[in-house]
Amino acid sequence: MFFVKKSEVIQSILTDRFKSLPKQTCVEDVFAPSNIALCKYWGKRNTELNLPVTSSLSVSLLDRGSSISLVVNTDAVDNVYVNDQVVMPDSDFYRRFVEFLNLFREPSSWYVTAKIRSTVPVGAGLASSACGFASLTLALDQLLNWQLDKRTLSILARFGSGSACRSLWQGFVEWQAGVREDGTDSYGIPLADTWPGLCMGLLIFSSNQKPISSREAMRITVETSLAYAAWPNKVSSDLLDIKTAIQTKDFSLLGEASESNALAMHATMLAATPSVCYDLPGTQAAINRVRSLRADGVPVYFTQDAGPNIKLIFLKKDAITISEAFPGVQVINLF
Ligand code: PMV
Repeated sequence: MFFVKKSEVIQSILTDRFKSLPKQTCVEDVFAPSNIALCKYWGKRNTELNLPVTSSLSVSLLDRGSSISLVVNTDAVDNVYVNDQVVMPDSDFYRRFVEFLNLFREPSSWYVTAKIRSTVPVGAGLASSACGFASLTLALDQLLNWQLDKRTLSILARFGSGSACRSLWQGFVEWQAGVREDGTDSYGIPLADTWPGLCMGLLIFSSNQKPISSREAMRITVETSLAYAAWPNKVSSDLLDIKTAIQTKDFSLLGEASESNALAMHATMLAATPSVCYDLPGTQAAINRVRSLRADGVPVYFTQDAGPNIKLIFLKKDAITISEAFPGVQVINLF
């Protein structure tokens, strides 16, 4: 049983702007980048407020993300389009979108037509919901003229999807877990460090919707996996290593800690009842290829989220080798 309600936290943040009417009729092309965690968020201490058990740390994907336009309509219903396709009202996507809007408006007070352009596949473990809710939060800040700072917007975006609180910035972002019951100290904090030459390679085996949502997989893991007890300590040490690696530009430390963290997260899922496994045959083949390249002296590591797709971590000097070893890989220069 949780005692603090989302609406109470939102009201305390927005004060006299809580559930106010739109101040303009439209906002256009509000963008937020997708983010990939190097140290993962896996498990909530509070499911009502999306508060995490541990802190986490991600890197944003520059122009890969979500761009949203909102137009206040007179249809008395929200219309949602993703990449020009209508989103059906009985879909999970539509339900989550409208539930989020409802946090900020009185019933039947106003409706929008939302046009979302996503440059990452939706629902395939490429943080489409993170950038989606971050861009929607930024768009609402403009539409409703909240004029909030990004840290506060990060708290609001977190109500849509936990990892959305890291998608308000480019570069490395730490989501500080916080300790407060109302979650007002649980938000993203951009790191000052950059890492020119750091690359991520997207290996997309499937752009289909995942068989089980990260939300549900997290719940099952926290409730049933014996391995979950070891997770908070694992995160503490990986987070420390990853931050040290970023500060000292120690690439093998970054790669080893990130890969080990992703594997440990998937181990907690495998040990859950029912067991959760997002892998496809291509996932395992890619992981084996990473390992054999590394054995041959190529410094490449991987991470994997709640989906079958693999993200390679490597340095720009090895980009040609990586592109040859993984035909079709989409290389992103992160800085
Ligand atoms: O924010 P959610 O509920 O989509 O969960 C994200 C979970 C992972 O992508 C697997 C890890 C992370 O930190 O992004």
